[in-house]
Amino acid sequence: MKRIFSLLLTACLVLPMQAFDVIPAPVKVTVQEGTPNLRRELSRKIGKKAFANRTAQLPAWAQEEAYLLTVTPKGYKVEANTETGYFRALQTLAQVDECCEVFDYPRFPYRGFMLDVSRHFRDKDFILKQMKALASVKLNRLHLHLTDDAGWRLQIDRYPRLTSRAAWREGAAWETWNTTGRRYADEGSPDASGGYLTKADIREILALADELEMEVVPEIEMPGHSREVIFAYPELGCKAGSEEFCPGKEATFVFLENVLEEVIGMFPSAYIHIGGDEASKRDWAQCPDCQARMQAEGLTTVEELQSYLVRRIERFLNAKGRRLIGWDEILEGGLSPNATVMSWRGTEGGIQAMREGHYAIMTPGQYCYINNAQDAPVFEPSGQGGYLPLDAVYGYDPLEGIPESLHPLMMGLQANLWQEYVVTPEHTEYMMYPRVAAIAERAWSPGKSADFRERVIRWNDALAQKGYHVFDIRKERGERKAFREGVFHLAVGKPVRYATPWHNSYPSGREKALTDGLCGGWSFGDGRWQGFLSDVDVTVDLQQTQDIHYLGATFLCQPGPEIFLPSDVEFWISTDGEHYTRALLLPNESGQPAQAYVVYGATVREKARYVRMLAHRSQAWLFVDEIVVN
Ligand code: ACM
Ligand code: ZN
Repeated sequence: MKRIFSLLLTACLVLPMQAFDVIPAPVKVTVQEGTPNLRRELSRKIGKKAFANRTAQLPAWAQEEAYLLTVTPKGYKVEANTETGYFRALQTLAQVDECCEVFDYPRFPYRGFMLDVSRHFRDKDFILKQMKALASVKLNRLHLHLTDDAGWRLQIDRYPRLTSRAAWREGAAWETWNTTGRRYADEGSPDASGGYLTKADIREILALADELEMEVVPEIEMPGHSREVIFAYPELGCKAGSEEFCPGKEATFVFLENVLEEVIGMFPSAYIHIGGDEASKRDWAQCPDCQARMQAEGLTTVEELQSYLVRRIERFLNAKGRRLIGWDEILEGGLSPNATVMSWRGTEGGIQAMREGHYAIMTPGQYCYINNAQDAPVFEPSGQGGYLPLDAVYGYDPLEGIPESLHPLMMGLQANLWQEYVVTPEHTEYMMYPRVAAIAERAWSPGKSADFRERVIRWNDALAQKGYHVFDIRKERGERKAFREGVFHLAVGKPVRYATPWHNSYPSGREKALTDGLCGGWSFGDGRWQGFLSDVDVTVDLQQTQDIHYLGATFLCQPGPEIFLPSDVEFWISTDGEHYTRALLLPNESGQPAQAYVVYGATVREKARYVRMLAHRSQAWLFVDEIVVN
């Protein structure tokens, strides 16, 4: 009897605890008995002393969003310091289905999502719909990438050609636009694709943002990614057809300040994003105006000339009471005094900015670029290549490895959705959900939790019910089998000699990568694939002559990042390392499919110590891993 009793007791104890099904996971939850009444508000206390005392140890920005939510069989109560905190409590309430007490506040003040509406335009209604989903997981920044080569997306009264000409292009699909000369079209012409947000649209977006306790951060790109502006106003470039503003000309600053003045008039956000990424600065070195500017200002490099532009723009914004954010390139040539850095080329830019006393927002491509495929790219809509599953996004902790002294300068993190290959609104939602939930939870909750996936499923299903085109995370296939399992073969651990020069290559894993028994996964950037901008000519030394029955290697095809299959692959063998005979000539039999992982291999009956692989590049990049010898 005693024994049975203790077994029963054990059974009770190990029954799984009912997960508290809220995203982002709150700081502190106590679940209580009873059937909750989720409809009746019993009390709402905002700005009272008791709650202020309870949250007094938190930073001011966290106090602002903190809340205490109590759900009982009679109804619910909320305590908060501000309306913002009250609104956050309601987002929790919307996901709760039990009696509980929740005390909660955010880990970071900046919890963002960026939508690129330049490469493929999304209209006001679409944006409003996404804002509601984003707010439901307590994201509090919507960063709109409003301008880029592919189209200007914001009404500016002073410069009507920005929207009558530079908001429209020939060919909706990125490939069409990109490969047929990147031609713009006039508004209303039959093949014009594009659009823009009017001032009335922006007012509606901002009214909803206000309700959702969200800030909309507008991005106006400069000095690069500005081909569309120079098309509409050629006098702003170093020469006709420039893709970048000319920082040598005063006209450029007149234009930028006029545009920013209208932007400031529209958007109340504390921050204005000025882009700053990937400016080639190609024309600046030859431009007499740029050269004169550099001489007058004592600038010695084009990076310093970009800094000159950013500093001038920062002074302008600061004088209007606004703060500047830029992509991490704004560090090059010297950072403006009050700028905040959005770190996208890894985390180094953000860390450097914090070391210099600036705020940083983390958006490293490796974890936060949700334009990468979320599942096996061979089964996903054709896209950019790359692979960023939900777990990888969730795995990113922006404070990991960052010295504690810098933590107060970490503003938060953001998911970015670049839309070159995201053609339809449905595809945009598919890329967003559920991955934005991973960013939301890492930016709000104090730590990771094991039940995240189950909670995501519920939230994602609820979105699907409301008509969002989500990715069904239950059907996730996961990483490439060869990546997960590896491969054992005769060449594992054997040295590889490269006749191909390392320069102009992507030598991840260096000399060992091709014969380490580890296979590249869905993503070319996973550190296992090796990329080359040339033919690949490598020789494996098996260190003794032996029987060989198979020779092969896997190649990658991802047209987005310009990775293509070889035109053919030859395998040569030798016993002495001097006299080689060709064992295989394997032509490309697949063409260049949208997304593929293709083995060039075949059985052989040979004896050899040395195996030379010669892969002929067809165009752009050639990516290979692993060379298999058996
Ligand atoms: C970026 O991805 N060029 C910021
Ligand atoms: Zn110039």
